[in-house]
Amino acid sequence: MDSVAVPRHYFLPAAGGPRHRRLRHRRHLPIASSLSSSSAAVESKEGLAALHPLPTADGRLRLSPDSLQYEPGYLGGISGSTLPPDPSSSDAMSYLTDILSSRVYDVAIESPLQLAAKLSERLGVGLWLKREDLQPVFSFKLRGAYNMMAKLSREQLERGVICSSAGNHAQGVALAAQRLDCNAVIAMPVTTPEIKWKSVERLGATVVRIGDSYDEAQSYAKKRAKADGLTFIPPFDHPDVISGQGTVGMEIVRQFNGPLHAIFVPVGGGGLIAGIAAYVKRVRPEVKIIGVEPSDANAMALSLYHGQRVMLEQVGGFADGVAVKEVGEENFRLCRELVDGVVLVSRDAICASIKDMFEEKRSILEPAGALSLAGAEAYCKYYGIKGENVVAITSGANMNFDRLRLVTELADVGRKREAVLATFLPEERGSFKQFCELVGPINITEFKYRYNSRNEALVLYRHCWCPYKCRSQ
Ligand SMILES: Cc1ncc(COP(=O)(O)O)c(C=O)c1O
Repeated sequence: MDSVAVPRHYFLPAAGGPRHRRLRHRRHLPIASSLSSSSAAVESKEGLAALHPLPTADGRLRLSPDSLQYEPGYLGGISGSTLPPDPSSSDAMSYLTDILSSRVYDVAIESPLQLAAKLSERLGVGLWLKREDLQPVFSFKLRGAYNMMAKLSREQLERGVICSSAGNHAQGVALAAQRLDCNAVIAMPVTTPEIKWKSVERLGATVVRIGDSYDEAQSYAKKRAKADGLTFIPPFDHPDVISGQGTVGMEIVRQFNGPLHAIFVPVGGGGLIAGIAAYVKRVRPEVKIIGVEPSDANAMALSLYHGQRVMLEQVGGFADGVAVKEVGEENFRLCRELVDGVVLVSRDAICASIKDMFEEKRSILEPAGALSLAGAEAYCKYYGIKGENVVAITSGANMNFDRLRLVTELADVGRKREAVLATFLPEERGSFKQFCELVGPINITEFKYRYNSRNEALVLYRHCWCPYKCRSQ
């Protein structure tokens, strides 16, 4: 009996990746949970390990996402380095007028703001969905791209535009180019799924598949822009792109007249949140603008926390639309002044929200598109918010069909109906019987046995504690 190694038993993320860390349950404080190569840990008075970044050779802060982790729902990313809002800021009026006069409606629809009735009932709040997943190219990205391109001169349009993107920005630029009758070159990494580059080609753009990563595609696009006199259309770091995305905020203010507690916005490079904040904070300053990031792609939370743009050493790619190592410069400037904080959510929580959206509206969101929903739910639960109205921006629906399998696997883990557990078993007779005896009468819905070494095997099993949802029934 002693030889069965059940005590070495821990939660695993269902599909690989780093092990879940046990978060210390302390409210209102960030929990620095592991060391990055460029950080040093210091034990603070409260017993929390605070990470102090060490300078790197080029003076930039390069940090691991792990260097700033806190509980799901906690409004973090704010520190003494974060500036208070400055309503007199000189460009406040220019963003407001740019957003109000934006021409995005040549290509975009005014997306509906819909009540999520089931989720609202579950959470005890009015949860409203801003349905950007219903846009012509299934995401909000066409707003910013079009707003920038519509301001180019006829001569610039005749020379053409170029961008680099593996996803939604590419489709936005391609559609905008089609409407403005100009040539568009889209540089995409060779790893981009066929469904994505084919849909860009179908819109009439020229796709160049180049480089193994987004960075390589971007450096090609920038070089080619210079060489061929094309205009580079950035995905988030440009005032016209930000203003275009800001029309989402303008619509929410127009569509929702009553008291509003917060708007939850998914954050990648920060174009959408900067635009929304630039508008909403000027006209409804009492409404909180809350960013939502995956906990392994937290570039904005880290940047706000350190009061400067930081570069992530590595970034989780599950929510590919927001897998950005560094937020934009102008985006950071605006967010530092206007955003109330950033909520971090896990991959499992994102999957649970994709399922919630399906049950609510029969629509399938991509992971980045469901991020704000996961953040809104976590925040309301964490702070015990009841009876308020909140808006979550469902920002995109460009989901690869084959990812649905992983999403459905993780959704119940995210809803805490299931857990994926692992343990090591000695490679010897009777181990499995002893394992069963030790685990006892619990629901196990999936079991995987992996030969690990001559001495032990790794066992992964899925435990479901929700009898009526149990797949084995
Ligand atoms: C679906 C979706 N949601 C959110 C974002 C994040 O937008 P931003 O980079 O402006 O922060 C993106 C970016 O491409 C996206 O495609």
